[in-house]
Amino acid sequence: MLGSHEIRARYLNFFQKENHVIIPSSSLLPENDPTTLFTGSGMQPMVPYLLGESHSLGVRIVDSQKCFRSQDIEEVGDNRHTTFFEMLGNWSLGDYFKTEQISWMFEFLTNPEIGLGLDARRLYFTCFRGNQEIGIPQDTDSAELWQKLLQEKNIDAKIVDWSERDGMQAGRIFYYDEKKNWWSRAGIPGKMPVGEPGGPDTEMFWDFNPECGENHLDGATDIVKFGNVCHVNCDCGRFLEIGNNVFMQYHRTESGFELLPQTNVDFGGGLERLAAAVRNDADVFNIDLFDGMKAVLEQASGQRYADYVPEITKSFRVILDHLRAAAFLIADNAIPSNKDQGYFTRRLIRRSIRYAHMLGIQKNFCAAIAEETIKTYASAYPQLIEQKKLIISELEKEETKFKRTIEHGIKKFNEITKLMPANSAIPTEEIFDLYQSYGFSLEITQELATEKNLVVNETEFRTYLKQHQDQSRAGSEQKFKGGLADHSEMSVKYHTATHLLHAAVLKILGAHAVQKGSNITPERLRFDFAHGDKLTAEQIKAVEDLVNAAIARDYSVTFQIIPVAEAKAKKAIGLFAGKYEEMVKVYTVGDPEGLPDANSTAPTFSREFCGGPHVEHTGIIGHFKIVKEEAVSAGVRRIKAIVE
Ligand code: ALA
Repeated sequence: MLGSHEIRARYLNFFQKENHVIIPSSSLLPENDPTTLFTGSGMQPMVPYLLGESHSLGVRIVDSQKCFRSQDIEEVGDNRHTTFFEMLGNWSLGDYFKTEQISWMFEFLTNPEIGLGLDARRLYFTCFRGNQEIGIPQDTDSAELWQKLLQEKNIDAKIVDWSERDGMQAGRIFYYDEKKNWWSRAGIPGKMPVGEPGGPDTEMFWDFNPECGENHLDGATDIVKFGNVCHVNCDCGRFLEIGNNVFMQYHRTESGFELLPQTNVDFGGGLERLAAAVRNDADVFNIDLFDGMKAVLEQASGQRYADYVPEITKSFRVILDHLRAAAFLIADNAIPSNKDQGYFTRRLIRRSIRYAHMLGIQKNFCAAIAEETIKTYASAYPQLIEQKKLIISELEKEETKFKRTIEHGIKKFNEITKLMPANSAIPTEEIFDLYQSYGFSLEITQELATEKNLVVNETEFRTYLKQHQDQSRAGSEQKFKGGLADHSEMSVKYHTATHLLHAAVLKILGAHAVQKGSNITPERLRFDFAHGDKLTAEQIKAVEDLVNAAIARDYSVTFQIIPVAEAKAKKAIGLFAGKYEEMVKVYTVGDPEGLPDANSTAPTFSREFCGGPHVEHTGIIGHFKIVKEEAVSAGVRRIKAIVE
């Protein structure tokens, strides 16, 4: 049977043979994208190119992108949800379209020699029904293309307009509305902000259990029911979506939807799900990537995953998912903390420790799991090895710290309950405080309460929790709003200002002060760079003055696509990821022929590896002002700046 690493390799090779260039995964922490904290799909780093920026590697790209979906943390526990996953992706940037993509995908899924060898009789497909109100037609092309491929394999492939009332009607290809068959980062067309790209999609599903009857055991946890209303998008566990071809051809404008200047393909397929389909086992936690971690957990807990005792299964899944995600996040420098991305790393680790407690694990176990994660992914993501020391030490630190917090919590619990008579209810505010300040899950409090013959009002606690979650969700939406596909004029100005700032800090502080991170919203820029000490007032002023001088000089900003060696010879700075990349895109502020010198009297001010977009000349940026300078971590400082 094909292992997960081989599935990934076959996919990359398959598309490489079709003239796609393989690119490495981007970071889980997006650069210059104010809209999200994490890379949640393969297309996120590709947005500028889908909108028309030219990509240095051409018009056909393929990769396996690390993804993290923080919104799924609470969902983990069933047989299919994970917060971290790898998304296999291929893109046509204004090149091929539906015909090629659909036939390649069919070939990749079904060919046993060069693809996955899945049985085509167990594959189902969905397409976009169309929506006259927004002027987007039904995607009959895709439906007919799938139909033809299936018929070539002698599979009857009826196309059905799906409705809850009529069910599947022995169909194999189904039309659904935009809730299911439209993709944009914002979701359905009605939610897309102006400028956001999107399009109809066609999805592929694997049928795990064609024989199942009215009642159906999902092979892992619950008995779930489905009858004649079951359908490919039903949540019962029979079908699993294994891939999605998005035909990214529209964008939202003030007045509706218009065609983009180019027609794009954005395919995304979860590696874990594809591996589950290949194994024909609906539990993604049974794929080989989890074997090593699972063995450590079985050893530490004395429990067997394969026994499928519901509470134990859930604890295993949470820990396997969360600690794998935490290792990858730390490798991308999301160090456990109380804010931004680090907050999620902390939450994943703490949740794992709580669930380990339920499995009866007392000793520290996080580092041992991480060792296995690193071993499993070493060849595909060598960065995990490079960051091994950091991953292990951060996990250990957090685990020890959290255990101490729990001990303090137990003390607090004893104080609260000292004078309470047996059978009385612990005030829910106190339970909530234990949850929030000491990381107590309801289960931990309940356990302690039972020992003392005290009562916990679970319903009231859940009401508190929900209120709190709603508040924090509203808070984070507020915090990260700023418009999707943020190519607003202000953000583009901030992007160019960031290049000027990068060049200026290197000039004023020294060659060590390289970029460590960047985040842009239409309201401000944020720039992290390597530097040990707090900047003095003079240094801040010198940096500001230099950036403002470069703005006043009104340099032109242009890009070139050139070989890596040439870019390096031309002293381009900045992050460029690719070991695979031969051609790169560089942006130059000033004369594209000269060597950069961040001195506002020099003809060329800066040259940097970058995908764009940028302003055409610096004069329009406005007056640059640093509003904050602070430490992010040891050796990394952060500048927040605005333009006025
Ligand atoms: N961008 C598409 C997705 O994430 C492929 O499903």
